[in-house]
Amino acid sequence: MPPGDDIDRIMAVMVAAFDPAFGEAWNRRQVEDALLLGNCHYLLIAEHGEAPLPGEPTAGFSLSRHGYEEEELLLFAVDPQYRRRGLGAALLAQFAASARTRGAERLLLEMRQDNPAEHLYRQFGFSPVGRRAGYYRTARGACLDALTFACNCEEIDGEAHS
Ligand SMILES: CC(C)(COP(=O)(O)OP(=O)(O)OC[C@H]1O[C@@H](n2cnc3c(N)ncnc32)[C@H](O)[C@@H]1OP(=O)(O)O)[C@@H](O)C(=O)NCCC(=O)NCCS
Repeated sequence: MPPGDDIDRIMAVMVAAFDPAFGEAWNRRQVEDALLLGNCHYLLIAEHGEAPLPGEPTAGFSLSRHGYEEEELLLFAVDPQYRRRGLGAALLAQFAASARTRGAERLLLEMRQDNPAEHLYRQFGFSPVGRRAGYYRTARGACLDALTFACNCEEIDGEAHS
C-alpha cells in the first residue's frame, strides 16, 4: 500500500481533472482497494516532469493494472492548471517504461468516446481495438461508447509520435 500522502495527491488531481458529468473519477476507497491488490501501480508527476518532491504540488498521476504480458492504464489525468505543457505525454511515456520493466509487451486503455485524450493516445502509438456500446452513462443520462485502445511496447520509442 502506498503512503497516505500519495493517495491524497492522487485524489487531489482526480477531483480537479475529471469532469463530474462523465462519472469517470474514482473515489478514495476504489483507489485504495486497487492498490491493495499488488498488481496495480501508480505514478505521480510534478510540474517539472519528474515525481514530486515532498511539499511540491502534484500535476498528474496514472494508475495501471498489470496482468501477465499486458498492462492496462486504468486512470490517467493532469490537473487542468498544468495541461498542454507536455506533462500528459511525459506521464504516458513514464507509464510505458515502467510497465515494460514489469514485463508488459502490450498496453491497453479504455476511454469514453469523444474524449480529447484520444489525440494524445494516437500520437503516442495507441490504436483502437474495440468498442463497448453505451458503456458510460453521463450525469444527464446519455449513453456513450467506451473505446479500447492498444499499443505494442516494441513500437514505442518513449516519445509521443506527431
Ligand atoms: C488527457 C490529459 C491527461 C492530457 O494532459 P496534458 O498534460 O494536457 O497533455 P499534453 O500537454 O502532454 O498533450 C500532448 C498532446 O496531446 C494532444 N492533446 C492533449 N490534450 C488535448 C485536448 N484537450 N485536445 C486536443 N488535443 C489534446 C495535443 O496534441 C497535445 O500537444 P500540444 O499541446 O502540443 O498540441 C488531460 O487533458 C486530462 O487530465 N484530462 C481529463 C482526464 C481524462 O480524461 N483522462 C483520460 C481518461 S481515458
